[in-house]
Amino acid sequence: MPPPSPASPGPQATAVAAQAQPGQIVESQYDRTERTASLIAAGKHRNLIGGQWNTMGDLQLDFLRRSGLMPEHRVLDIGCGCLRAGVKLIPYLEPDHYYGLDAEKALLDVGFHKELARAGIQDRLSRANLYASRLFIHRRLGAAAIDMAICNSVMTHLPLNYVRICLENTLDYFKDGASLFMTFFELPAGTRFSAPHTNTHGVTTNGASDPYHYTVSDMVHAAEATGWAASYIGEWGHPRGQAMMRYRRA
Ligand SMILES: C[S@@+](CC[C@H](N)C(=O)[O-])C[C@H]1O[C@@H](n2cnc3c(N)ncnc32)[C@H](O)[C@@H]1O
Repeated sequence: MPPPSPASPGPQATAVAAQAQPGQIVESQYDRTERTASLIAAGKHRNLIGGQWNTMGDLQLDFLRRSGLMPEHRVLDIGCGCLRAGVKLIPYLEPDHYYGLDAEKALLDVGFHKELARAGIQDRLSRANLYASRLFIHRRLGAAAIDMAICNSVMTHLPLNYVRICLENTLDYFKDGASLFMTFFELPAGTRFSAPHTNTHGVTTNGASDPYHYTVSDMVHAAEATGWAASYIGEWGHPRGQAMMRYRRA
């Protein structure tokens, strides 16, 4: 089982993010807790997680289906936000076969209470399947439960250490041979890491601030000694040019 750890950032981490001053480093845009709260209160939770609601939801469902997803599988959506992929995956999967993890409990709440209700599918999911943690720990999930996972547009907002922490802490939830798909902004090999990089879709990424870029070898390295075998998929149709990695439980 994964090691015990706090289920939320805790008051200290929250206070640090909220007090960040201009010029100070805020690790991720999702650490801006006041901005998060005010967007959710204003009903703009879809904007908070990047908009493109149907496009990005359908893209994730289609990709997982092309990768072998079946209705009887159990899926973990890592950094699921307000269920942009969930509203597409939940009707496809058998009831309660979708599990979500996110750092922000308020996004899980609005996803469950507003988005699932709006889609008329709230009866297909227990609220307990959605769990708040910023260290990728889901206390309602047992060992070897998950067949497939998606982690879309999450590590693009986080330093590379989180990739390793995510892989380490989620491993036990997966069946042997199960796959975890993770997107990232790809920095071509040989490109200066610390300089901003603009991809072919016009998105500029950074070495030390959100949105982050990584090389393929960074994403492979982060899986070393975690129990996952990494392989590169690359292009999968993401509208902002995020690339895809596959991690298979060895
Ligand atoms: C761009 S949104 C993507 C949401 C979802 N994957 C989708 O495609 O709709 C990024 C999400 O990552 C979550 N997130 C950021 N840091 C996280 C962490 N350390 N652990 C879990 N979730 C995190 C944010 O709260 C947010 O919901």
